[in-house]
Amino acid sequence: MRITLGVTGGVAAYKAAELVRRLQQEGFSVQVVMTRGACEFVTPLTFAALSGQKVITELFGDSSGGEANLESAIEHIAVAQRTDLLLIAPATADIIAKFARGIADDFLTTLYLASTAPVVVAPAMNVNMWNHAATQENVEMLRARGVKIIEPAEGYLACGMTGPGRLAGQEDILAAVHEVFKAQRDLEGETILVSAGPTCEDLDPVRYISNRSSGKMGYAVAEAAARRGAKVVLISGPVNMETPAGVERIDVRSAEEMHRAVAERFPAASIAILAAAVADYRPVERRGEKIRKANAPLTISLEPTTDILAEVAKNKGRKIVVGFAAETDHVAENARKKLSSKNADLIVANDVTAEGAGFDQYTNVVTLFSRDGRDLALPKLPKSEVAQRILDEILRLRTLLYAPAAARHSNV
Ligand code: CTP
Repeated sequence: MRITLGVTGGVAAYKAAELVRRLQQEGFSVQVVMTRGACEFVTPLTFAALSGQKVITELFGDSSGGEANLESAIEHIAVAQRTDLLLIAPATADIIAKFARGIADDFLTTLYLASTAPVVVAPAMNVNMWNHAATQENVEMLRARGVKIIEPAEGYLACGMTGPGRLAGQEDILAAVHEVFKAQRDLEGETILVSAGPTCEDLDPVRYISNRSSGKMGYAVAEAAARRGAKVVLISGPVNMETPAGVERIDVRSAEEMHRAVAERFPAASIAILAAAVADYRPVERRGEKIRKANAPLTISLEPTTDILAEVAKNKGRKIVVGFAAETDHVAENARKKLSSKNADLIVANDVTAEGAGFDQYTNVVTLFSRDGRDLALPKLPKSEVAQRILDEILRLRTLLYAPAAARHSNV
């Protein structure tokens, strides 16, 4: 588990040094990121020596004369991708305000926006700054976004005043980190099969029939599931995407190849989320040589492919099977029809013509149609967040459908 510890500029910055040791003792690997303010209180060298890793202090390389280079300019993305939890301790009023408003003017604030990992914030500041309406409003904004705030402790503050403002104790911070990790690992023990991307149906060695799927939605689901502790097998059509950390990826090209791969890995899965945009038709004939141009209309005969979802869901037993429906009209009606005709438990439907939805977008607007009759319309959300909601809905549905009656009463 990799924690990125953001240290910001307050007297309590020295306490973060001990925190690095405690986190390491508990088995976490710690990457420290310091703001400029933090460097005024403690030297980066202290944290580098304790964490055994280079400490990141600037967005564009070392401003004290060092060369800004491309590597450092995109490092926040690399760090974001390898962060399992972002912990800010101590957090100043300034960093809380920047996080709340999405200001990204240094490494830590940029990392916060680029990361999809859970965030834990341990504030430390003067009591009046903490109680100020602006700070409290910013804290509420972060809470509403799912950020875990560790309330500052009461006591004597460095400024000479007493009241809430002291950095919470190490034990409280560690407990919060463990709690967040545990809540985030609710898919441990599950094997989740995800399909993503388009399929390509070759006409000849240079031409093919495909569609506009980018794979973003399926990859977001695979990434979120792996983060939550599942073993994830991602069967992917041709896409331009990086394999999410900890995910086993199997590349396929055609619907037929995808069918074979899904059928082979389906039996070992407890959940299957088939987000791929599989071609419904393929050319009857695949020519060995390039089709030559002739001065006459060309007719290509197509034949249906196997409906992979419908095929594997026939004998799904207690597995939860999820399908996607990209629609341009009558969304609810078509989605419900697919739910029953494909024997799925959940259909994630989107109107691909809606603003912020559909192919090659980072956001999506979907409704989740469940086997138990519930329709959950989600607002426009980043695909990473849509992925989390899909996984939440799968767990809800499984408890409802298959958990013993006692669990059912407490969960509905
Ligand atoms: N799907 C599949 N195999 C296919 C076609 C689709 O497994 N050959 C799956 C997709 O992965 C998706 C779901 O079925 O999860 C819905 O696909 P879609 O193409 O929207 O539905 P169709 O049944 O093809 O209906 P239509 O094209 O008429 O909308």
